[in-house]
Amino acid sequence: MGKVHNSKSHKDLTWDYSDPVNGQSIPAPFFYDADIFEQEKEHIFMKCWHLVGHVNELKEPGTFIVQDVFEQSVIIITEKDGNIHAWHNVCRHRGNRLMNERRGKVGGMLRCPYHSWCYNLDGSLRAAPRTEHLDNFCKKDHSLRKVRMEIFAGWVFITLDDDAQAVSEMAAGAEEKMRKYLPDMDNVELVEETDVIVNANWKVIQENSVEGYHFVLSGPVHKDLAALIDFKGYTLSAYDKYWTYIGPPNKDVTHAYGMPLEGATWQTDSFFNIGLWPNTTFYSFPYTDMVGVFIMIPLTSEKSLLRFSYYAPKGRPVPEVTKAAIHWMNTQLGPEDIVLNETNQKGLHSIGFGSGRYLIDDSLPNQSEHLVFNFHKLCYQAIRE
Ligand code: FES
Ligand SMILES: [Fe+2]
Repeated sequence: MGKVHNSKSHKDLTWDYSDPVNGQSIPAPFFYDADIFEQEKEHIFMKCWHLVGHVNELKEPGTFIVQDVFEQSVIIITEKDGNIHAWHNVCRHRGNRLMNERRGKVGGMLRCPYHSWCYNLDGSLRAAPRTEHLDNFCKKDHSLRKVRMEIFAGWVFITLDDDAQAVSEMAAGAEEKMRKYLPDMDNVELVEETDVIVNANWKVIQENSVEGYHFVLSGPVHKDLAALIDFKGYTLSAYDKYWTYIGPPNKDVTHAYGMPLEGATWQTDSFFNIGLWPNTTFYSFPYTDMVGVFIMIPLTSEKSLLRFSYYAPKGRPVPEVTKAAIHWMNTQLGPEDIVLNETNQKGLHSIGFGSGRYLIDDSLPNQSEHLVFNFHKLCYQAIRE
């Protein structure tokens, strides 16, 4: 049997991105090659910031969220004084993983399920049974190890890279844009978190979300979304390490997500999206009172975990139109895109493809794929330059 097209490594594969308008798009192996995936893991995901959640989820002492980054696991937990800390989620005795739930709440300490070493919420070792008679055993040598954390615009991020540029520098200007469209952002609570496994490279999912070319040209649910906005005014803008895509409202609509708008309340009537390098997007659907988050978490070169989180203002019922929008995203728009993500992933392997052409056209700004190119370039630069 002859060698199949995809079996050779592309670890040194290059791409000439000097002419996005007339040149070729990033070559297909960047979306499936296992060696390139390892390079992304090392140069992108071990260095970038990962969104954990909103500070409001971590108000109560002892509340924790566990954030995994490939084999690494981090526990973000609130101390009695309200300070939030991030620790490597591993016991200093023999390396057992401490907490295995995604979210939870403990009393005053973290106990390792193996030999019951116990840690205070400030990371210090409180007790290590039977170690009293060990020579040279000093509890203070065995505190949990710290992970770098930053709170940006009320959102908690962690990074495994102590040299990473701060989120506030990387995304300078982003907070102002978020607050303009998401005025309730400081007062939100998590309503729902849904994880979906998608058989596609994380970049296939990302590139789908940063272009409007497919809005009226793919499936029926996308057309419904396009109808809620003034699609001609859809604007996609690249900044240094973040990007926005914003659709002003179509003021003529009377219904959205199958619900009448009459009497409804919302915090924004626009379709607002902001993506932070590399894989976190905050957004709001038109006529809703929510902050949506979606994150494309890479699992393998051809499998991703797509995490949909929905936040709504605390202390009041979620408006019916907003609830309908969340349901619509989970059951209609999301699935319509996921089918495209998975058929796209399959097609990328074809010996009949290789690479393609971006639709980059200033005369069609709402459908131009300049953000797709911008994203591909950032990914390429991160692993090759
Ligand atoms: S590995 Fe945690 S107490 Fe032994
Ligand atoms: Fe889409």
